[in-house]
Amino acid sequence: PTKVTVPSLLEKKLLRQPIVAVTAYDYATARLVDEADLDVLLVGDSLAMVMQGQENTLAITMDEMLLYTRGVRRAVKRALLIADMPFGSYHTGDREGLANAIRFVKESGAEAVKLEGGRERKDLIQRIVAAEIPVMGHIGLTPQSVHRMGGYKVQGKTMEAIDELRTDALALEEAGCFAIVLEGVPRELARIITDELRIPTIGIGAGPDCDGQILVMHDMMTMTFSPPAKFVRRYADVAGVMRAALEEYRRDVEARTFPSDAESYHFSREIRDLMAE
Ligand code: KIV
Ligand code: NA
Repeated sequence: PTKVTVPSLLEKKLLRQPIVAVTAYDYATARLVDEADLDVLLVGDSLAMVMQGQENTLAITMDEMLLYTRGVRRAVKRALLIADMPFGSYHTGDREGLANAIRFVKESGAEAVKLEGGRERKDLIQRIVAAEIPVMGHIGLTPQSVHRMGGYKVQGKTMEAIDELRTDALALEEAGCFAIVLEGVPRELARIITDELRIPTIGIGAGPDCDGQILVMHDMMTMTFSPPAKFVRRYADVAGVMRAALEEYRRDVEARTFPSDAESYHFSREIRDLMAE
């Protein structure tokens, strides 16, 4: 299958073909994503919570994001590889934001970056795009705004908030984003924004009318440990499979049925003869 690119995603919207995106944070799972022909692989800063057990996404650093992205890079041949800019890496000024976007390309092989926010990110996005790095926007429930939002709550529920999000979406398109994530918004609002934009919308908790969908892989595979949000569909019980395997392994070792003779290495005939003397 042919390489997914920024222009090919725009083409998909024109052809009304759904875009399939997922997160991955390491080589092994990224290989599975690529081999399953998904379009977009995001190294999301959700890895702070999913892979590191942190309370929220705020503490993850550029260096950590680069480390995970490099592992993913080695696995991905076809999917578009997008890296999530962590909190603090683009909030201190456009120069620093641009420098950090460039780090993702140079030091981890990311093909695009994603950052959270609306109108207030316009100048920054324009600079990054002018430096030839495609940018994905992200509005609605933006986890880096957890303290402002007072928790992870559905956004865009008042007339004022609806107008603000529509304005933000248009601003992101105007700034040069090639796509935007719509997270945690009413289905109806996601549909309005999707119709208003020429660039694709990728929804998570935003209903079925977006141009594409994204899920956190560990949520869809049941590799997360709290009750899932309403929008998460559990496609597999990987934790269940692994739990059963680990318990069986423990029983086998304790019963000395693992490893078997066939799973062991042996002396050569020569050595055996020598030892027998
Ligand atoms: O960090 C992440 O996983 C994300 C996606 C859910 C869009 O930002
Ligand atoms: Na994120």
